[in-house]
Amino acid sequence: MLRSRIIGTGHYLPEKVLTNFDLEKIMDTTDEWIRQRTGINQRHVVGPDQAASDLGLKAGRRALETAGVAPEEVDYLICATLTPDYFMPSSACLIQHKLGLTRAAAVDINAACSGFVYGLQMADAFIRAGVHKTILVIASEVLSLRLDWTKRDTAVLFGDGSGAVVIRGEEGEQGILSTFAAADGHAYDILHIPAGGTRLVLTPENITDTERGIIMNGRELYKRAVMAFGEAVEKALQQTGCKAEDIDIFVPHQANERIIDSAAKRIGLPSEKVYLNLDRVANTSAASIPIALDQARREGRIEENDLVLLAAFGAGLTWASAMVRW
Ligand code: ACO
Repeated sequence: MLRSRIIGTGHYLPEKVLTNFDLEKIMDTTDEWIRQRTGINQRHVVGPDQAASDLGLKAGRRALETAGVAPEEVDYLICATLTPDYFMPSSACLIQHKLGLTRAAAVDINAACSGFVYGLQMADAFIRAGVHKTILVIASEVLSLRLDWTKRDTAVLFGDGSGAVVIRGEEGEQGILSTFAAADGHAYDILHIPAGGTRLVLTPENITDTERGIIMNGRELYKRAVMAFGEAVEKALQQTGCKAEDIDIFVPHQANERIIDSAAKRIGLPSEKVYLNLDRVANTSAASIPIALDQARREGRIEENDLVLLAAFGAGLTWASAMVRW
């Protein structure tokens, strides 16, 4: 059977680190509040000349190197981001050029924090339909530049970074076993960036307003995230017929430790099977899962033939999952 195998992973985190203690100095918050509510200790943030494509380029290059795939072998590049370099052209096109993907088509997608898993589903469909053979999926986010740093409720949650995977169609039992994606735009405004698009255009008058940053109704989002995330992990089990005990590792979107715990509990997954890096990296939106995947693989937490569950939720709302035989 033709399956979409993940044959390489890579990630990149900007050098600069902001700890919770650093944030204590610039806003009314405490390390204790942040750690207890979220599990976050620190986050990476970009330097002056770094945009989404610069981070994505580095992650993509590392993924190609681990896969042993030459740039000209790549047929298609999907870049999941809600913080692209420009409205146009796409960050995917910038990365395609800098990486030398001479044969590849390139497109950005935005499903907020679910963007990587959405991209994985598209790549899997392209490969199994015989449209493309080798696909690079990159997720890259520079959330630090879309935050209102005067708003402690959101400023403490996010970080910058990029992760990437190379996917190739191969005959066999290893690869993506199932994918699931869902959306509900009804409550779009519980997590959104009001200004800077075509709905509320940025002007000299509103350029410093709070609407240019992320606005979040944390409590409402928390409730909905628990439901959506739970549905995503259950779907992966239903679609594959796997049981929780078959899963070797769960690599979730790293938004909040309590939301992750509740999804793991819902399917009876013990905490030692859950990979967490949000203490070090915070919430990097779409980039969160591929960064965690690469770290888990490099730390020896993912081995050949392991059953790996991925699940995400994000603005939209969107939610998604995938089950992968590594
Ligand atoms: N430091 C100190 N106090 C704070 C901070 C802060 N950084 N932020 C908020 N507070 C205060 C509030 O002002 C409030 O004070 P009050 O009671 O005097 O009004 C108090 O802490 C409690 O605030 P809540 O918002 O009710 O805190 P809650 O327990 O709900 O935790 C949190 C907040 C962690 C954001 C939680 O709601 C949550 O995790 N929600 C889900 C958010 C999420 O996952 N976001 C990620 C985005 S989804 C995606 O990945 C795109």
